[in-house]
Amino acid sequence: MGGQSKGIFDRLYNSAENPEDLPWYEVDPPELLVKALDQRESAGTALDIGCGAGTNSIYMAERGYQVTAIDFMPQAITMLTKQIAVSDLAIEAVQADVGKWTTKHTFDVILDIGCLHTPGTIAIDAYKAQLLNWLAPGGDFILVHFGRRGWWDWWPIGPSRIYADTICQKFAPEFELVEDISEDRSDMPFFIGRSACIGRYWFRRG
Ligand SMILES: C[S@@+](CC[C@H](N)C(=O)[O-])C[C@H]1O[C@@H](n2cnc3c(N)ncnc32)[C@H](O)[C@@H]1O
Repeated sequence: MGGQSKGIFDRLYNSAENPEDLPWYEVDPPELLVKALDQRESAGTALDIGCGAGTNSIYMAERGYQVTAIDFMPQAITMLTKQIAVSDLAIEAVQADVGKWTTKHTFDVILDIGCLHTPGTIAIDAYKAQLLNWLAPGGDFILVHFGRRGWWDWWPIGPSRIYADTICQKFAPEFELVEDISEDRSDMPFFIGRSACIGRYWFRRG
């Protein structure tokens, strides 16, 4: 799965010396992640799916979470482990494919920025089955996934685009939408389509 996407990620990671050089790098943690952590009574366990260089894994660990961070690209795991080598942050970095990884643990918070929408990586139904194994009841799930604004909104390469309603229907009834924010952008790199809608979702498991 994801052979072509792996090739693209390979080139992007090989040309990045630091996390800041990656095209998806954001200085601030996603607003909905901050809100979700703020409303939880205490820090617990968190899973960062497709963690990349681990910017948000580190953010969650700094907030007291015991974090498991998974990514199928070895370069991503190396970038993360280099950053945490001299820290005492509770992060376990694992090189694994989201469709194949198994664990005995459950998590209070799950974050996915950009993994599910990687083309060819995993079907949404299989992904949901994994989430049902991993997210504890009452847990929060934060997803960032490209949106689709109409029949015309597609691009032959880059992240998959899905209507917000379809995403919510796919995750229902087990995952209830708490809040979503979509943002239209026209400054995206050409290889993922100049104009795109970034969908941000916060779900809670009932
Ligand atoms: C757009 S990047 C975002 C990285 C990180 N979440 C962030 O926001 O900085 C998406 C990441 O998902 C990872 N990924 C894509 N498909 C994956 C899969 N099937 N299993 C594990 N990781 C995957 C890629 O290697 C990449 O690091």
